[in-house]
Order: sequence, then structure tokens, then C-alpha cells
Amino acid sequence: MRGSPKEFKAFSKFLNTGQFPRWPQKAGAVQKGLSSKAAATKRERRWRPFSRATVYRGNIVDGAAYLAAQREKIDQFLEETLPSPDSTLHESMRYSMFAGGKRLRPGLAIAAYEAVEGTSPDIIRIASTLELIHTYSLIHDDLPAMDDDDFRRGKPTNHKAFNEAIAILAGDGLLTLAFEVASLPGPSTNGIGDGVRLQVVRELAEGSGSVGMVGGQAVDIESEGVDIDADRLEYIHKHKTGKLFRAAVRMGALIGGATSEQLASLTTYSEDIGLAFQINDDILNVVGALEDLGKSANSDAARGKSTYPAFFGVDESREKVKTLTDQAIAALESFGSSAEPLRALAAFQLSRTS
Ligand code: IPE
Ligand code: IPE
Ligand code: MG
Ligand code: MG
Repeated sequence: MRGSPKEFKAFSKFLNTGQFPRWPQKAGAVQKGLSSKAAATKRERRWRPFSRATVYRGNIVDGAAYLAAQREKIDQFLEETLPSPDSTLHESMRYSMFAGGKRLRPGLAIAAYEAVEGTSPDIIRIASTLELIHTYSLIHDDLPAMDDDDFRRGKPTNHKAFNEAIAILAGDGLLTLAFEVASLPGPSTNGIGDGVRLQVVRELAEGSGSVGMVGGQAVDIESEGVDIDADRLEYIHKHKTGKLFRAAVRMGALIGGATSEQLASLTTYSEDIGLAFQINDDILNVVGALEDLGKSANSDAARGKSTYPAFFGVDESREKVKTLTDQAIAALESFGSSAEPLRALAAFQLSRTS
């Protein structure tokens, strides 16, 4: 992986944040494999229906460590998949893709796939498409015509490092590549069939398009400096961020062969986590700093953005994040230990500082 010593330090810091104490006697068994039957039975016994203490005192799976492990697989796939840096456009696509994102959306897709005990080798490829879409959305989100931001993932934004035209085109390139990658047949005969592949492509399109992320972005921009009500605020957050989280979890579940009941529970989880995540993003913009966030702090207020802290204050917004996280974990009630990665990621997003 590329990166300056400073970036490495920043990433190490990320790995050291949001970690939850493990039950000491469990750590080895969990790390060695979620599939170990004996360990699973033990975990099953230990797992209690969600309580607040569970989130705050620790899940068996460490969310930050889980994410770091998925990130490695995702980054290897993306490294092989993005065109080589043979042009300014391709350099620019790679610049933002490998600037150091958390890879939470692919992580959620993989965790949902594990929750339903999927076995298709296509999961990494399909999960990676979410990061292609997400990175494109960030490049466009930072443009002068949008949020006009100078820093992203600890580096100058794409249009600062290259130029506006290249940044727009790099976003377009990543967006298009996502659908190419999603539509490819898998590398193995054990891959997903055409029916599921089409469902997955549809989830990705709906989650990213004008009834999903792009739609939320439009209302976000139209609401700058405008007095909006709580419903519209929720609409923005559920769409600009929530819809891609929803697509991520549903795509992973579909590849894993989820039943309709499982899909319904996982959808509830994804909607709650998506909203919680964006409210937290708003809070971090108020209380965080550039060095931790890798992007400018206090920019929302400066642009007159409609945010949860602006509407409800920081404390009430924090309460909402906690309540939504509780709800998300409660939606996984019917799952046993296979959903522990999802529970751990819920806990991770609750405590994140970047
Ligand atoms: C930032 O998302 C933009 C939002 C939708 C809130 P992340 O916090 O997941 O950003 P990266 O991918 O880790 O940079
Ligand atoms: C980003 O929302 C949402 C998308 C890119 C789809 P924000 O504009 O609030 O996120 P940051 O703070 O710039 O990462
Ligand atoms: Mg924005
Ligand atoms: Mg922004």
C-alpha cells in the first residue's frame, strides 16, 4: 500500500480508535475463525440480546480490526482492478481511491454476507463496487460547485491536486467502473448467478442514483442557508449517506443468499446505521479536527449546511446516534454469532473519531 509516514501514522491512529475491549479468553478463538463450530457455540452462549452495555463494553469481534482485515482484501482487488496510472485521468482516479478511506461500505457488505453465511467468492468484487461509488461521490462532493472542500482523506482534494475537469471525470470514471465490475461474471464457477447479479446491480444503481445518494446530495445543496424542518433534514441524511449503506448491506446479503426475513432485518439495520453514521459525521464536523478527520472541520456551519447539531445541538444529536445504533443492533436479534461483525461495525461507527 502507498502512503507517506504521516498517512501511515494517521491510519495507525484510526486502527487504535474505536476498539472495544474483548473478552480476554475469547480473543484467540474469534480471531482464528468465525467458522469454528466450537467457538461459535461458545460465543452463542455468551451472546445476550442487545443491551447498552454490550455496545459500550465490547463485542466479541473488534470492529476496527475486522474492518482493517476487510480493507486489505478490498484494496488488493481495487489495486488490480483500477486502470494503471497511464494518464492523468487514471492517476487522478487512483489518487482518491488509495488516499486512505475506512472502507466501511465494503466492510458492511462483507459483514452482511457473513451474517447470512454466504459462500460465494464474488463477495469481495461486489463489495468493492461500493467503494468505487463512494469515492466518486466524495470527489464530486468536494468540488467548488458542491461543498468546496480542500482536504479529503488527509490529502488535498482531487480538484486541488489535479483540476476541476479531471476531478469531475475521475468521479465519472469510478462511477462507471463500479457498474462494469458489478456486471462481470465471477472468477469462479461457484460465483453468483445472473439473477442475483442483476439484483445486485439494481441495488447499487438505486442506492447511488437520483432516488438514492445523488438525490440526497441535491437536497443537501438546495438546503444550504435555508431553514428546513426535521423531516427534510432526515431525508437528506437518509439519502445522501443512508441509501449507500442500505445498498451495501443488502448487496452483501443477496450475494450470501439471504431469505426475505433476513433481508428485511438487515435492511432495518442498514437504515439505522446509515442515519447514525451521517449524524455522527455532522457531529465530528463540529467537535473534530482536520488532523483526525483528514478533512476540514467546522465547514458545515461556514456553508450554512443543514445538520443535526445545527438543528438539535450536539448532545441531542449524540443521543440520536446512540438510539439508532441500539435499534440497528436490536434488528439483528434473530441472528446468532454470524452477525457479530455487523454488531461490531455498529459499535465501531458509534465511537469513531474519523
Ligand atoms: C464520509 O464517509 C462521507 C460521508 C458519507 C459521511 P466516510 O467517513 O466513510 O469516508 P472515508 O471513506 O473513510 O474517507
Ligand atoms: C457526504 O456528505 C455525502 C456524500 C459524499 C454522498 P458530507 O458532505 O456531509 O460529507 P463530508 O463531511 O464532506 O465527508
Ligand atoms: Mg456534502
Ligand atoms: Mg462534504
